[in-house]
Formats: sequence, structure tokens, C-alpha cells
Amino acid sequence: MRISVIGCGYLGAVHAACMAKLGHEVVGIDVDERKISALSAARAPFFEPGLDELLSDVQGTGRLSFTTDMSKTAGSIVHFICVGTPQKKGENGADLRHVDAAMEALLPHIRPGDLVVGKSTVPVGTASRLADLLSEYQPSAHLVWNPEFLREGHAVKDTLSPDRLVYGVEEGSEDHPAVTILDEVYSGPLADGTPRLVTDHPTAELVKAAANSFLATKISFINAMAEVCEAAGADVTSLADAIGMDDRIGRKFLNAGIGFGGGCLPKDIRAFMARAGELGADQALTFLREVDSINMRRRTRVVELTRELCGGSLLGHRVTVLGAAFKPESDDVRDSPALSIAAQLQLQGAVVTVTDPKALENAAKRFPELQYESDLDTAIAGADTLLLLTEWQQYKELDPFEVSSGVAGLRILDGRNVLDAAKWRAAGWQYRGLGRP
Ligand code: UDX
Repeated sequence: MRISVIGCGYLGAVHAACMAKLGHEVVGIDVDERKISALSAARAPFFEPGLDELLSDVQGTGRLSFTTDMSKTAGSIVHFICVGTPQKKGENGADLRHVDAAMEALLPHIRPGDLVVGKSTVPVGTASRLADLLSEYQPSAHLVWNPEFLREGHAVKDTLSPDRLVYGVEEGSEDHPAVTILDEVYSGPLADGTPRLVTDHPTAELVKAAANSFLATKISFINAMAEVCEAAGADVTSLADAIGMDDRIGRKFLNAGIGFGGGCLPKDIRAFMARAGELGADQALTFLREVDSINMRRRTRVVELTRELCGGSLLGHRVTVLGAAFKPESDDVRDSPALSIAAQLQLQGAVVTVTDPKALENAAKRFPELQYESDLDTAIAGADTLLLLTEWQQYKELDPFEVSSGVAGLRILDGRNVLDAAKWRAAGWQYRGLGRP
């Protein structure tokens, strides 16, 4: 099938490559020429494990191309909208400018019977509004809302083997012609054994908002427990293990630490609250305000703990921050708690060096005032305090005995609770975890 994918960021680039992998003929479109030229050369414009290999693999087949020219959507039967929906500047709501611009640019190229598939995370009500717009231009075309649940760092696998497929169609009917077309797009290994749920537009949009809110709540719940554990001298990691053994709770997403960041969870819960407010349902989501503030409090707590660890003042302390990305296996620094903590430490007088295996270029663009060092040994040498803030494998594997020779103060704050505390203490380190005695 001929498919177009509009928007070639994290979501769209991965989606386009995966659709070509399924055997479709795919054109990826973006207004950003830099992204298009990188993708055309089979290079992802960001770090995502397995994506470069997948791009080379499918581009060799001639089934995948990239362009800035929207008219190249002509001939596609299915058009995926994969553009970003960032947080509005100075407000909590989602900025839908890219979605609206993509739709406006696409409309003149839509032909009878085409399918427009929205994948971006949008405030509930957007799909119905876009469906009305579409039917004004082309009454026989359809719009489906098909939210994407991929995680950065696992995006290729999550796209090719999703947990579930959600189709939001007009009136939520299984018999809708759009369902047959989308089933054909996903047919094969992707869909085999994957549960599929057909629902209406607003429910499909809300599934995504609800899923991300639940995940954020789970993380803030365990971080709230970490605050209580700290006050009570208890260990949040054992607590998480124990409550996670209950199937109804589950151990995943119960890792206490410096809190969630990235381009999705923080802005999605805020946009959800803002939209609920517009709908007059704001009271239902006031708990998300608390989820957000528990999350932001983690950052302040890490700064406080580092100050304590440094004997009450950060002034002049040489602090090396291990990790800049919001999570490992990603170079994404959007709303990265690690960088926000690094910047606060520097403001309070510490001499901060940040290291990360992939994210330093992006980090330097957002926080040019910080010092960066790509070589781990150099970054560590001369530090008196280490902060592990992104749990990259190489940081988890650090040997406290080897590292000891480079670090003057032998102080480490494990912001992700991933190190063996006893081992680090045995090597002479003052070890602090979060929510641990
Ligand atoms: C998230 C959702 O998981 C995904 O389904 C959705 O499509 C997009 O948003 P992503 O932002 O890629 O994906 O990362 P995720 O793995 O969910 O992690 C989000 C943040 O939570 C990271 O900063 C991570 O470090 C943090 N986190 C995660 C915790 O602090 N503790 C946990 O137990 C899990």
C-alpha cells in the first residue's frame, strides 16, 4: 500500500521506517530540511537504537523516501499525522499548530476514499474537529485516531510489536470502512496476536492521555513513598519490590528516583489537566497537579541531598553529573530532570561537569552555561562528588574501587537507585540513594 507519514520526528521517522519494513511504499514528509536530508541518507536525526539499521535496510528496498514536498502525498491511500504537540509557551495546554498546519497542507492532496490517521497525542476533541474539516474537503475520506504508545529507546520494537492497537473511528463502529483499511496497513506480524480495540474518536484520544497519566501517577506515587521512606528510615526499593509482587499493582514503573521527564509525560499530564478544565471536568484531574508537583519536588530534593552530602554547602564543590538524557538509550534532553538538577547545583555554587554517552550535543544547546565532558574518565577525574542521574548501563557498571582513584571526596548520590549501596560503601564511599536509609 502507498502510505504517507507527515512529521518525521521521533514518532514519524520510526513509524515511516516500520511501515516500509512491513512492505508498504512509504513517503515521509517534514518541513525541516535538515531532518529530511539526514533521513534520506538513512541516518536518524536523533539517537534511537536500531533505527539507523532499519532505515538502511528499508531504503535499500526502494520502498522508503523522504521529502519536504507535501504534493508527494498524492497517490497515498493512507496519511499518518505524526507531528509534535509541544506544551504551549507559558501555558499548560498543548500547542496544536503543527497538527493544524499538517492537516491544512495535506487537505488539497486528499482523494476520495483516502484515510487520514492521527497518531500525535492531542487534546480530546481534536479528532472530531479534524474529521469535520476533512469531510468538508473530501466527504468520502475518513479520519481515524490511532494513538501511539512507543517509548523512546524502544521505539522500533514498540512500533513493530505494540501491546495493543487502538482505532478511534466515527461512531466507534467495527464495521466502519476505515477499520478495514487500517487492518490492512498493520496486517502481518505486527497485528498477529496484538489485541485491537475499535472505539470512537474521543475515547481513542483519551486512551493515550489516560495511559500517560497513569504511568506518571505510578512514578509519582513511588516517589511520594520515597519521601516518606526517607523520613521514616525505610527503603523504597524493597517497598516497591514487595508491593510490586501483587499482580494488581505490578513492579514496572515503580522505580523511585529523580522523577519523570522527556517530551511526553510532563507535557501530556499538563495538557490533559488544561483540556479537562476547558471541558468543565478539571476537578476530576486535580490529582495530576499533585503528580506534577511530587515529580518537580524530586529535583529540589536531589539538590538538597547533594548539599547535605557536601557538608552543608555546595560552594566550590566539584560535582560530576553522570547522565544528561531524560532516560538511558536516548539523546533526548527535553524536560530532563538530570539537566535541571545540574543547572540548580551550578546556580548554588557547585562547579558542575555533565557527561553522557549520547546527549551532550542536545544538552549544550539547552543549557549552554554548563560544562560538558564526553569522556567518562576525564569527567570523573578531579570531581569530589558524583551524581548518577541517568541510568546508562556503563554508569551502572562503574566499579567503586576503580573510580575511587579519580574522585577526591568519595561521595556519590545515586539518583536512580541502581547501584549496589553495600559495594560502594565497602569501597569507602559515602553513598546516598533516594528514599533509602
Ligand atoms: C512515555 C510512555 O511510556 C509511552 O508509552 C508514551 O508513548 C510516551 O511517553 P517515554 O517518554 O519514551 O515514553 O519514556 P518512559 O520510559 O515512559 O519514561 C518516562 C520517564 O519516567 C523517564 O524520565 C524515566 O526515567 C522515568 N521513570 C520511568 C521513572 O522515574 N521511574 C520508573 O519506574 C519509570
